[in-house]
Amino acid sequence: MPLDLFSPAKLGSIALKNRIVMAPLTRNRSGEAGVPQDLNVTYYAQRASAGLIVTEATPISPMGHGYPGLPGIYTDEQVAGWKKITEAVHAKGGKIVIQLWHVGRISHPTLLNGALPVAPSAIKPAGKAFTYQGLVDYVEPRALDANELPAIVQDYVYATQCALKAGFDGVEIHAANGYLLDQFLRDGSNKRTDNYGGSFENRARLLLEVTKAVVETAGGDKVGIRISPVNPFNNMHDSNPQALFNYVAEQLNQFNLAYLHAVEGGIHGVGKVDAFDFEQMRKLYKGAYMANLSYDKVRGNDAIASGHADVIAYGVPFIANPDLVERYKTDAALNEADSKSFYGGTEKGYTDYPFLKA
Ligand code: PHB
Repeated sequence: MPLDLFSPAKLGSIALKNRIVMAPLTRNRSGEAGVPQDLNVTYYAQRASAGLIVTEATPISPMGHGYPGLPGIYTDEQVAGWKKITEAVHAKGGKIVIQLWHVGRISHPTLLNGALPVAPSAIKPAGKAFTYQGLVDYVEPRALDANELPAIVQDYVYATQCALKAGFDGVEIHAANGYLLDQFLRDGSNKRTDNYGGSFENRARLLLEVTKAVVETAGGDKVGIRISPVNPFNNMHDSNPQALFNYVAEQLNQFNLAYLHAVEGGIHGVGKVDAFDFEQMRKLYKGAYMANLSYDKVRGNDAIASGHADVIAYGVPFIANPDLVERYKTDAALNEADSKSFYGGTEKGYTDYPFLKA
């Protein structure tokens, strides 16, 4: 039998009962203190039939926040809140990794105790920040000095230690979608002239330093990385994404990671998406590959059968279908997602989507 979405898989040390992964999804329902709530426990536990859950993007430090209501992973209270989630998912036989996030310039002083957002270069993104006061123009971020970067690497290490204490099966380093590590990678947002700007080697340096430090903390077999080579969201662009991300994929081979996770296009329907050969990049990478974006059951099975992907991450379908695995297995109809309740709010549009069987 060829492999398909329902075949078990191993990503590093993480054993999956199927190849249907819940993609990271920002939901803004953890309050101003950034502590996971009981409502969040219910939400993740409802989705534990996924082969693996990747949590919503989770700030690694106070400066890593860029939206209201995000849960963090750097205080004891946050660890205790997440522990309830990992225990609930494990009790149902699921696996869960936490996505480690620093937003960089995609933030606002009102979310940072008055501080300016930080970035590789002082370039204001187009668009608006989503704050507790509503949508407001982004500000020009402060360019990080190279001597500040070791402390940011250390924040990733501390967050990883917190994640392990909270009982996660692993961590996913968020290097996608126009946030800090992606801002360093791509030359539309990185105009530095030091060791962290210019060549591919220099622009990938912070990501590789973070990866090395996180791998030393958790073990490479518990670490994944998410990239989005051509996603224009958050005003991102690169002059040569294929060569840059081919280089990144080859460099990541040295860490024997649990997986490489790629967003294979543009999210939120914004901007022109450059041509990119994901299969070429995927062949350069020697480990497990998680594909994401706009897959359905048929295309997911095809990507696994052809060897393009080992596992498939589904986002919006998991918002609306807590039992997505069962629905795919039985070819049942899917619930429609209500986009108005994606970001923030109550249990409505969060934990009240119906299961097939009550
Ligand atoms: C979002 O809030 O729209 C968002 C957050 C994190 C991502 C992508 C999108 O990686």
